[in-house]
Amino acid sequence: MAANTSGCCLWFTGLSGAGKTTIATIVVEQLAAAGHRVELLDGDEVREHLSRGLTFSKEDRDTNVRRIGWVAKVLARNGVIAVTAAISPYREIRDEVRATIDNFIEIHVATPFEVCEVRDVKGLYAKARSGDIGQFTGMNDPYEEPISPELRIETAGRTPEESAAEVLTYLRSERSIA
Ligand code: ADX
Repeated sequence: MAANTSGCCLWFTGLSGAGKTTIATIVVEQLAAAGHRVELLDGDEVREHLSRGLTFSKEDRDTNVRRIGWVAKVLARNGVIAVTAAISPYREIRDEVRATIDNFIEIHVATPFEVCEVRDVKGLYAKARSGDIGQFTGMNDPYEEPISPELRIETAGRTPEESAAEVLTYLRSERSIA
């Protein structure tokens, strides 16, 4: 397989616990194994480093998403497949980032709120229900679904590997990547 990709951005968006990081990590591993230069910008990790100290207010989320978008742009223009996995809840800001990056591929991990709450991988939905966490996405803070993402993934009843395979199939068939 050809490994000389021109850069692009795989922008995963979806609720907390939707599976963005899990799926993106598998996609990144497989692209790297195929010889691509690829980098994962994960929401939780970015908030430890690039966005340390930011809150979950709209203003701070917008700042966070713009920072991720800027790094993804710089990586993509240097031939890297930049993979992002942040909630990125606001359509306008996602579209703003889209406008700055050639080959922006938006992937909506469309796990329903109820499913994310039942999974509650990090225990945050329970904390949000009890009021320990405020402004929680999907509960008392907005999540604006993409209207026409390049790809929409349903995760219910599928393994993360199957979801990742969907992404790779899309990249191969529609973008000649992978
Ligand atoms: S974003 O809205 O700015 O894109 P980001 O992806 O960086 O969010 O961070 C989301 C992660 O922070 C969640 O997966 C969860 O682990 C944690 N988190 C903590 N508080 C909140 C909150 N109020 N709303 C959503 N996620 C939260």
